[in-house]
Amino acid sequence: MQPVIAFIDESRERFVSELSRWVRLPSISSDSRHAGDVRASAEHLALHLGALGASRVEVWRTAGHPAVFAEWLQAPADSPTLLVYGHHDVQPVDPIEAWTSPPFEPTIRDNRLWGRGVVDDKGQVYIHAKAIESFHRTGTPLPIRLKMIVEGEEEIGSPNLDSLMHDHAGELGTDFVCVSDTAMFGRGLPSLCVGLRGLAYLEVFVDGPALDLHSGSFGGALMNPVLALARMLAALHDPRGRVTVPGFYDDVVPLTPLDRAAIRELPFDEAAWLKSTGSPCVWGEEGYSTLERIWARPTLDCCGISGGFQGEGAKTIIPARASAKIACRLVPNQEPEDVLRKVTAYLEQLAPPGVRARVQIHSGGRPYLAPTDHPIYEVAKRAFTRAFGKATVFIREGGSIPFVRTIADATGKPCLLMGFGQPDENSHAPNEWLDLDNYHLGIKSAAYLYDEIGRMAHGSRGNSG
Ligand code: BES
Ligand code: MN
Ligand code: MN
Repeated sequence: MQPVIAFIDESRERFVSELSRWVRLPSISSDSRHAGDVRASAEHLALHLGALGASRVEVWRTAGHPAVFAEWLQAPADSPTLLVYGHHDVQPVDPIEAWTSPPFEPTIRDNRLWGRGVVDDKGQVYIHAKAIESFHRTGTPLPIRLKMIVEGEEEIGSPNLDSLMHDHAGELGTDFVCVSDTAMFGRGLPSLCVGLRGLAYLEVFVDGPALDLHSGSFGGALMNPVLALARMLAALHDPRGRVTVPGFYDDVVPLTPLDRAAIRELPFDEAAWLKSTGSPCVWGEEGYSTLERIWARPTLDCCGISGGFQGEGAKTIIPARASAKIACRLVPNQEPEDVLRKVTAYLEQLAPPGVRARVQIHSGGRPYLAPTDHPIYEVAKRAFTRAFGKATVFIREGGSIPFVRTIADATGKPCLLMGFGQPDENSHAPNEWLDLDNYHLGIKSAAYLYDEIGRMAHGSRGNSG
């Protein structure tokens, strides 16, 4: 491994400038005006991976944005296979005025690279690409067989993932999966994520009169859709912070005392966390700590609301309609379809006389809990610790990555969530940044991961005679 690690050290600056070139492509998957940029981003990556000794690189079309697939199968056929996943699409950049430097003109300040997608998830995809490059360029044979799939629709809920997996089931066979698209628990603290929440996203439209009406002539005699929606939304939680949707908690797997003890042991500074949010105090489901609420309890949130007059000054109307975007984060064993059905039925029931409520389903994704008794988790801990020089902790995250559960169910293989973000990296927000020390150590961690998986296989081959 010595030549590989030396190469990573020598290439430190170049690895950053090459990432910057990819970050310049505004691959915003939610905005159809950027469809060409998402395609360009896929092609850029495919070209790049092709130069790193891949035995095969393809751009896989979907009904939406393309994915990139590459494989390095030079290791002997009985070596284990690792499938690495990431995504090359990025979030929108609004509000653009809040960025210190333009989102698609990546800039280095304070030992950080600033730009949209630097950490979510282009930088983390490049961590693997650069680790692979470091084997290739030093003539060090890869100790395992590697495959990489980089999706182009993760940030919009992976709408074409199922058909992509169906079309390419033969190519995605693997022994282990590694997803690098999460954050570390704290600075310099290697963290393996062993749980993700799922997602159920819907939009509710509340219609009242056929058009906006004069509030003097009609106000007080008809139900106002904005007030009706406000009443409906307010009824979705009880005073203890629990979601009131009937049956919402039916399939929730409760935290065990052991789970709770493990979470309590993590070095969580709640006051600092609260300060970083700018919110005046914590809020949530009674009886649970902040980390438990984020990692292991389901939620229902309103992500946006609109209706009525939005312009300057006062305009006296009874609005014709109002709408809200609602997202539920799910935990095992909740299923998105089931939760969407329950929330829809409850919203329809909550709509007061005088309005009609209609629900549109957006995206879904299922939660994941890792089988941490599988030996691969100790192997990954060892690799992470070799790079960072610090013991690796198990954490969970509250976010969602639909691919994780999809691939875990399709292959029956464990999925490692080895992420290199920081808790305050501003992903999805203005001024997203990548810690350059973490990028560098991340590349080493990935290289060590391949090495450790290779050793594990040799060990087990030796043991079994
Ligand atoms: N990288 C994130 C997932 C994530 C977020 C992991 C926070 C850990 C902590 C991913 O790109 C993302 O943003 N996912 C979406 C998924 C959704 C659109 C289905 C999310 O969590 O909102
Ligand atoms: Mn991501
Ligand atoms: Mn994201």
